[in-house]
Amino acid sequence: MKAFEILESNVRSYCRSFPVIFDKAKGDHLYSETGESYIDFFAGAGALNYGHNNEYMKAQILEYVSQDRIMHGLDMYTKAKEDFILAFSEHILQPRALDYKLQFCGPTGTNAVEAALKLARKVKGRTGVFAFMGGFHGMSLGSLSITSSNSMRESAGLPLSHVTFIPYEASVEGLDTIRYMERLLTDTHSGTAKPAAVILETVQAEGGINVAGIEWLQNLRQFCDDHDILMIVDDIQVGCGRTGPFFSFERAGIVPDIVILSKSISGYGLPMSLLLIRPELDIWSPGEHNGTFRGNQLAFVTAKAALEFRAAERLGEQVREKEAFVAQYLKNEIEPLGPGLHIRGIGLIWGIDVAVLGEEAAGEIARNCFKNGLILERAGRNDTVIKIMPPLTISMDNLKRGCETIKESISKVCYSYSV
Ligand SMILES: Cc1ncc(COP(=O)(O)O)c(C=O)c1O
Repeated sequence: MKAFEILESNVRSYCRSFPVIFDKAKGDHLYSETGESYIDFFAGAGALNYGHNNEYMKAQILEYVSQDRIMHGLDMYTKAKEDFILAFSEHILQPRALDYKLQFCGPTGTNAVEAALKLARKVKGRTGVFAFMGGFHGMSLGSLSITSSNSMRESAGLPLSHVTFIPYEASVEGLDTIRYMERLLTDTHSGTAKPAAVILETVQAEGGINVAGIEWLQNLRQFCDDHDILMIVDDIQVGCGRTGPFFSFERAGIVPDIVILSKSISGYGLPMSLLLIRPELDIWSPGEHNGTFRGNQLAFVTAKAALEFRAAERLGEQVREKEAFVAQYLKNEIEPLGPGLHIRGIGLIWGIDVAVLGEEAAGEIARNCFKNGLILERAGRNDTVIKIMPPLTISMDNLKRGCETIKESISKVCYSYSV
């Protein structure tokens, strides 16, 4: 571990929660260099919905590389990109009667968020954006400006502006957040200008697994229509099948104006990000948002393969079955472990809110899990939500084993904190 401590910046973070050197990974498991195995309830922070080193995708990468196909392409036309675009249209857009245009952005999610904000401002000619408390959208200046964590915002080193934070659905008792936004726009003394866009995660992931209700999402869509405001859904973490259907907003039957995808869109953990734009909003001039790495060819190859894999394996149905198991397990086996424990979730993203035990206890739970061979992350205010986010392809056996490890760990901590 010495090399990292001496040579790598203090900014490193996940390695502090999982202090081993990882070397191999397959499916729903990671392995350290000394051979310890870990069940993965983290899935690369949502980038590994199809598991590690998925065989179907791996075979296609190996073939592509072995044939000296193009590896770097900026935004030039390439065969790999064409194949992905056509597959995306066939598997995702056409069956849903969606006519989005695709914009390939720089490799990470945050760059696509930047592009979405720029485009919304350009289309509407307004500077403001409404974002939600508890939301996370990335760490570059634009995306950080709409990320609500105060400590993360401080790292910007300058004021982050042109955003109005709104409480997320049901997060403030008795407050109808849609009515509140209406008021901001209609009260001539609200001190708030009409925004270009409202940006949201339909399930706040880093914010503690807060699942927006269907009616609220529909009302938000209506609010945006009524006031000529763009609706941007950041589906970077909870898109690509995490909640069951491919998009997280499908359950509400709404169509956002702009959708942001990254993380699991490439399927294999390779960097890639994408905007889906309603055609009439595509008013970009050529090169107005650009970047050297907008054409990760290997990611295009695996992204196409991922869509084929999803269809062939009926992943949507698999998620429904696994969701039913997790929901029941958490309700019957974990919630009763202590008063004040709460569970929330949908599809294969779940949270166990242990705020009642405190931040230190939450850390202890996660550390115990790791000692017992389970990798998971914490989320929410003060990191007090234990987050369950395995690959969608996890076996039922390993899903169960992971849940049992969490139960053991929470029981132990509840006992020592006498809850
Ligand atoms: C909802 C959401 N938006 C944006 C991002 C930023 O993506 P990236 O870390 O790839 O820049 C993340 C990352 O966790 C995310 O979960």
